[in-house]
Amino acid sequence: MARHARPEHYPAPYALIDHWRKHAGHAARMYASEAREVSTLLTGETAQNLIRVFLLQDRLKGLAEKSDFTARHVHVIGGGVMGGDIAAWCVLKGLVVTLQDRAPEHLGRAVSRAHKLFRKKLRDRYQVQNAMDRLIADHLGTGIKKADVIIEAIYEDVKAKQNLYRQVEPVMKASALLASNTSSIPLEKLAEHLQQPERLIGLHFFNPVAKMPLVEIVTQAGNPPQLIADATRFAKGIGKLPLPVKSHPGFLVNRVLMPYLLEAVTLLEEGVSATEIDEAALRFGMPMGPVELADTVGLDICLSVAEKLSETLHNPVPESLRRQVEAGHLGKKSGQGYYT
Ligand code: NAI
Repeated sequence: MARHARPEHYPAPYALIDHWRKHAGHAARMYASEAREVSTLLTGETAQNLIRVFLLQDRLKGLAEKSDFTARHVHVIGGGVMGGDIAAWCVLKGLVVTLQDRAPEHLGRAVSRAHKLFRKKLRDRYQVQNAMDRLIADHLGTGIKKADVIIEAIYEDVKAKQNLYRQVEPVMKASALLASNTSSIPLEKLAEHLQQPERLIGLHFFNPVAKMPLVEIVTQAGNPPQLIADATRFAKGIGKLPLPVKSHPGFLVNRVLMPYLLEAVTLLEEGVSATEIDEAALRFGMPMGPVELADTVGLDICLSVAEKLSETLHNPVPESLRRQVEAGHLGKKSGQGYYT
C-alpha cells in the first residue's frame, strides 16, 4: 500500500487496514468503528477534493452532450509516437482505423506497438485479433475519403502540415472532422491554405496516449460551434476527457506544466539536489517529482516546448537544459538526464 499511496494524502486504505487489524471478528465493534471512520474520512480534505475532481471531470464530460456526432472510421496521418498510439487507442475503443505514414517501416512499428497494447488490455485472443483487423496500415492514404475523422500527427513543421492538408481537403467527406495533434503551431497558421480554413480544429493528445485521460480541444476564431461540439463528442466517445482551449501557446496543460518544470531545473542550477526537489513535490501530493517528470518526458521535448513558450511568455530557458540536450542527455530514453 505504501508503494501506491502516502497516508497523509490517501488516508482511506490505511484506515481500512487498521479497522480490520483492530476489530476483525467482533461484528458490533466493527460497525461502530466503521461508522466513525467513514464519517471522518468522508468529511476529510482528501475525500472532499476527490469529490471535487470527480465533479470537474463530470463537467468536462457534460460538454459532449451538445452533439450526437458518431464516428466509425478514423484516419490517422503520421504513424510516429503519437499518431501510432492515437490509432491504437481508437481501435481499442471499437473504431475502424486507417493509419497512414509515408515511411512504411514506421507503420510496421506502430502496428506492433498496437498489438502489444491490445494484448495487455483485451487478453482474449479473438478480441485481440478482432482489434488487429480493425487497424489498417494505409501507406497511400486511401482511407481519407471514407473517414469520419481525420487526425494529422506528422512532424511539427508548418509547411509539411499545410502541404498535407492541401492534399487531404479535396478528398475528405464533407461531414468529416479535420483535426491536428500539433503541440505548438497556431491553428490559424496551419489552416492558411485550406479552402475552408474554419474546418480545422485541434485534438491535442498527451503522451502516452493510453494512459493520459485528457484531450485538449483546440479551437480557432472561425470554428463553427457545431464543429467544436462534434470534436468534443468524439473525444468523449473514445473515452477521453475533452478540455476546450484556445489556439494559444502551450494551450492549457503545457502553459501550466512548463513553468513548473523549468522552475525545478532552475532550482537544480542553484544547487538544490534532484532528489530533494522531487521528494518535496511528492510530499506535496504530486504523483511524480518534476525532475523525474522532465527526464520521463524527454529533455529535448522540454527544451523545444520551453523555447516555443518563451517567445510569448518571455520566461528564460535554463542554460543547463540546453547543455544536457547538446550533450545527448535526453532523459529516460537515452539513459541519462538529470538522473542516470
Ligand atoms: P514522430 O516524429 O514520432 O512521428 C511523425 C511521423 O509522421 C513519422 O512517422 C513520419 O514518417 C510521418 N510523416 C511525416 N510527414 C508525413 C507526411 N507528409 N505524410 C505521412 N506521414 C508523414 O512525431 P510525434 O512525436 O508523434 O509528433 C507528431 C505530432 O504530435 C507533432 O505535431 C507533435 O507536436 C504532436 N505531439 C507530440 C507529442 C509527443 O509527446 N511526442 C505530444 C503531443 C503532441
